[in-house]
Amino acid sequence: MNRTISGECCAGAAPRKKIVAAVVVVLLVGCASGLAQNKLLVRTGQAKGTINKNIYGHFSEHLGRCIYGGYWVGEDSPIPNTRGIRNDVVAALRQIKIPVLRWPGGCFADEYHWKDGIGAREKRPSIVNTHWGGVTENNHFGTHEFLDLCEQLGCEPYICGNVGSGSVLEMQQWVEYTTFDGQSPMANLRRENGRNEPWKVRYWGVGNENWGCGGQMRPEYYADLYRRYATYLRNFSGNRVYKIACGASGGNYNWTEVLMREAGRRMNGLALHYYCGSGRRSRSATRFGEEDWFEQLKRALHIEELITQHSAIMDKYDPQKRVAMIVDEWGAWHQVEPGTNPGFLYQQNSLRDALVAAITLNIFNNHCDRVKMANIAQTVNVLQAMILTKDEKMILTPTYHVFEMYTPHHDAALIPVQLTCDDYGFRNDRIPALNVSASRDKSGKIHITVCNLDPGKAHETAVALETAPKKASGRVLTARQITAHNTFANPDAVRPAAFDELKLDGKTLTVTLPPKSVVALEIE
Ligand code: AHR
Repeated sequence: MNRTISGECCAGAAPRKKIVAAVVVVLLVGCASGLAQNKLLVRTGQAKGTINKNIYGHFSEHLGRCIYGGYWVGEDSPIPNTRGIRNDVVAALRQIKIPVLRWPGGCFADEYHWKDGIGAREKRPSIVNTHWGGVTENNHFGTHEFLDLCEQLGCEPYICGNVGSGSVLEMQQWVEYTTFDGQSPMANLRRENGRNEPWKVRYWGVGNENWGCGGQMRPEYYADLYRRYATYLRNFSGNRVYKIACGASGGNYNWTEVLMREAGRRMNGLALHYYCGSGRRSRSATRFGEEDWFEQLKRALHIEELITQHSAIMDKYDPQKRVAMIVDEWGAWHQVEPGTNPGFLYQQNSLRDALVAAITLNIFNNHCDRVKMANIAQTVNVLQAMILTKDEKMILTPTYHVFEMYTPHHDAALIPVQLTCDDYGFRNDRIPALNVSASRDKSGKIHITVCNLDPGKAHETAVALETAPKKASGRVLTARQITAHNTFANPDAVRPAAFDELKLDGKTLTVTLPPKSVVALEIE
């Protein structure tokens, strides 16, 4: 079967008749010429909207070895560090141009009291991290260390405040402590703790998952609490607070409806969380079969429906699209690696995770009219991480490589595409074999990122451009096995390579996409 998919803002709303007509035309042309080729129409002249680079954002929680061991080793560590923060991890994340980092949770955020994490480290109180493994949290990584990390990474901070067990005053003072330039108890406390200049902290989350670990609240109750907390998040010294309300999990559309109705006018962003789980038969990150591959990619594709449905509700209250959708937790969630603490969520990361990331980022790009930020969970050593560390060693995951390959999309203009492609079928089920997004960067180059989800078949695709380009090149991420992954013994098993399966002929670029691959094309 052959299907047509429009990849552009509001793709879900593309007129059905036009799509059907396009399918018929393509089928007729295909039959007449005897070709069963996939077609990608790239409407370069119709570039519209900007792919906010914050779609490529990250999330790091006080969970397992994300903060401690992942970023923070302390100033006295033999592992090379700058003021306690690992140099290797910072350098690797700078390569993928990490734009924004969400912290300190997650569920941890609604139990975190920020004043525990300031001042002399040896005097900071130790607490129990009840959500994640019941381990002792010594608070050595706190506000100053987090904002130092963001400065070292060159990214914007996104702080999630405590609504579940905190107070309005606490969150109000956190904003004042970090951003106020003048004389005040909080600004002076910051100075006493060694930081004279305020930081710029634009993004503030008003709680996390307050329908669950953040307080088990009903949407009406949370909407009122949101209004109260948000009232006291002040703009100090030129810092303009961007307020993000806790959003729904998956398909909880009622949460979005109530929040938009009751508090939509008072927020800048509304969050959404979606974890696409793992396989059906096996939840192992590295030991799975094609059934699990298919299941996982199908669930990753489901985020398109979630974005479309939540956007439709947001459109009702906010047709101008002033309120952003902030997908501040997403990714694959597998079983922990054997022998590791189940509360630490340490999982390996395979080529399948790379496909999950690539598909999801394409979908975010195509919905960049509403999705302005997203934060994959959770950067280092937790869930779908970019980086895994073992003492002084560090490896990059296949997901890291996707983020690197997609950097040209940061702040580029979205180019609408129309894809007519084969299906990838498994048993009685089918999903589109290909998934794509395209953009034009500031220098005029066109970037197309396309995934072949089919693990058993290369897919030849004709890319139709509006003008004949001078040259085209590409890079590919693939491997022999669907379970391929990087290990400390073999850190480069999955990494990008040059892609030469492409032929340029006038306005048509023909590419042969290898099975189970992510291809990034650059067209000049
Ligand atoms: O990312 C792990 C957890 O998943 C977060 O703490 C929570 O917000 C979500 O349920």
